[in-house]
Amino acid sequence: MNVIAFNGSPHKEGVVNHALCVMKEELEHEGIGTEIIQIGGENIRGCADCGGCRRPPFVCVFDDDPVNRCREKVNAADGIILGSPVYYGGIAGTFKSFLDRLFFPGTRLRYKAGAVVASLRRSGGVFTFQQLTNYLNLAQVVLTPTVYWGVIHGNTPGEFEEDREGLQITRVTGRNMAWLIKTLAAGGIAPPEEIKRERTNFIR
Ligand SMILES: Cc1cc2nc3c(=O)[nH]c(=O)nc-3n(C[C@H](O)[C@H](O)[C@H](O)COP(=O)(O)O)c2cc1C
Repeated sequence: MNVIAFNGSPHKEGVVNHALCVMKEELEHEGIGTEIIQIGGENIRGCADCGGCRRPPFVCVFDDDPVNRCREKVNAADGIILGSPVYYGGIAGTFKSFLDRLFFPGTRLRYKAGAVVASLRRSGGVFTFQQLTNYLNLAQVVLTPTVYWGVIHGNTPGEFEEDREGLQITRVTGRNMAWLIKTLAAGGIAPPEEIKRERTNFIR
């Protein structure tokens, strides 16, 4: 069993990374391998809405950055964590470009476990938390139960350590995610058949 965790911050040793490490500790304590992949520092272009990913092999036409390379790892994982710093009340730009292009062609995350975390200095956390959750909801990911929204405070890992409630939320999320992954694996009940999606555009 394994989890892929994405750090959408340009800081390899920043607050988001620290939160992901706390979750990794909890997951690995339960025997679930966790890989943290840093995305924020990469050069990643936004989605061009070219429609190329709607044709086989259903991957992004831009193959010169980590998006398609990460796709295989995501599809093979039992769980996914999305972590972003809050930039102007939303997901950090590079990470948003990454997520748009990772999720738009479709993933194999249906009925797998997911969690999100947003780090910030002061305000805009819930918007960002919601934005991150949008990707998982549309991919039919099962969201990990926790004790509060995954919004944590601090400009540095040291400051985050002082956000004792944020630290606790993060730890509980990691622990609960391990439980959820094991529960889904043990389930024994076949998931509902996949539906053919209706796409209704509202044009008037
Ligand atoms: C461009 C930019 C925009 C930011 N916007 C916000 C914001 O809207 N609200 C906030 O509370 N903090 C904001 N911050 C602070 C970061 O969200 C905060 O320091 C975060 O915890 C950094 O995480 P990291 O160390 O993983 O990069 C901003 C920082 C930058 C660089």
